[in-house]
Amino acid sequence: MLRVLAEQAEKAAARLPREVYDYYATGSGDEIALDEAAAAWRRYRFRPRIGLDTTTIDTAVRLFGSDLALPALAAPTAFHRLAHPDGEVATIRGVHGAGSLLVLSSRCSRRIEDVAAAANGPWWFQVYLLAETSIGRRVARRAVDAGAGALVLTMDTPYTAVKKRLAGVPVDDDQYLVNFAEHVPAGIDPFQATTQDPACTLDALHELTGYGVPVLAKGVLRGDDALACLDAGAAGIVVSNHGGRQLDRAVATADALGEVVEAVAGRVPVLVDGGIRSGLDVLTALGLGADAVLLGRPILWALAADGAAGVTAALDALRDDLAEGLALAGATSPAGLPPGLVTRTTA
Ligand SMILES: Cc1cc2nc3c(=O)[nH]c(=O)nc-3n(C[C@H](O)[C@H](O)[C@H](O)COP(=O)(O)O)c2cc1C
Repeated sequence: MLRVLAEQAEKAAARLPREVYDYYATGSGDEIALDEAAAAWRRYRFRPRIGLDTTTIDTAVRLFGSDLALPALAAPTAFHRLAHPDGEVATIRGVHGAGSLLVLSSRCSRRIEDVAAAANGPWWFQVYLLAETSIGRRVARRAVDAGAGALVLTMDTPYTAVKKRLAGVPVDDDQYLVNFAEHVPAGIDPFQATTQDPACTLDALHELTGYGVPVLAKGVLRGDDALACLDAGAAGIVVSNHGGRQLDRAVATADALGEVVEAVAGRVPVLVDGGIRSGLDVLTALGLGADAVLLGRPILWALAADGAAGVTAALDALRDDLAEGLALAGATSPAGLPPGLVTRTTA
């Protein structure tokens, strides 16, 4: 793991109340998917190319019309006010300080409009469809109106999986309902209304494509599902097993990525998350055909450790680490990777 990220994780562990730390850190089931996520990237090896002038390295990429300083985004994660009093407002400042992009969670703990007002760069909005079906859609519309450049529909969470280390989510009602309360029909229990919609279908994905921004499907682990999402109008795919928080024993994203990339065959960008903790993890993902990666917990630890500055420091360190990896692998940019850069070890 990159040193800065490890130090921030340690600082966060020391600083956060135990139940908050556990809420962020935990996986579902026996945490097999969680445990395998980071290790899976490390089973791949590089076949570096020599002989290239690597005086100038440029980690920048363009994604859905946005120029990013590095091919790494902040993944959607819930309730940032548990990590920092300013919550997602601090996160977005930190992310934009590093020239990256925040995918704001449907379960964010600040008002969408307040996060948007603090933005100094591009951001996307992650959509959960909720039991009272009008609510998730209204919230998604508000996000687009507030400036979200894309919607990311999370499709691996028809139910929230039980987390072994948790008695409950350690969040107060205000934070939980901050973006939902105004949309809950009278006479309906707001907590019941805002549980997950178990029918997060391809039709729902298709419906969101009418909201005027690109829609990405998140939680894809199979080539056939990726193609079905494209047929439903997805403009991008996010290979994810929800950081090991949904179906335990779901395949590691490092191992699912190749199948999805092959199926998509360059038609749309493919992103991946889960256990990305260093520039070489990013380089591996790029080598396997991803256009960009997302980081979940490292951003939460950075936010808890040092607020917005911590988030910027984490992403800056990742960019520098990736730049070194690119140079040593024989590339000057993410677009110029040597063919066949990555191979899987047999061990
Ligand atoms: C505390 C926590 C909350 C999360 N909340 C959401 C969420 O609201 N929506 C979503 O699509 N994914 C959510 N995720 C999953 C992340 O978007 C991402 O897939 C995952 O964290 C990536 O793995 P990593 O944490 O190993 O980087 C959450 C993950 C964590 C750790």
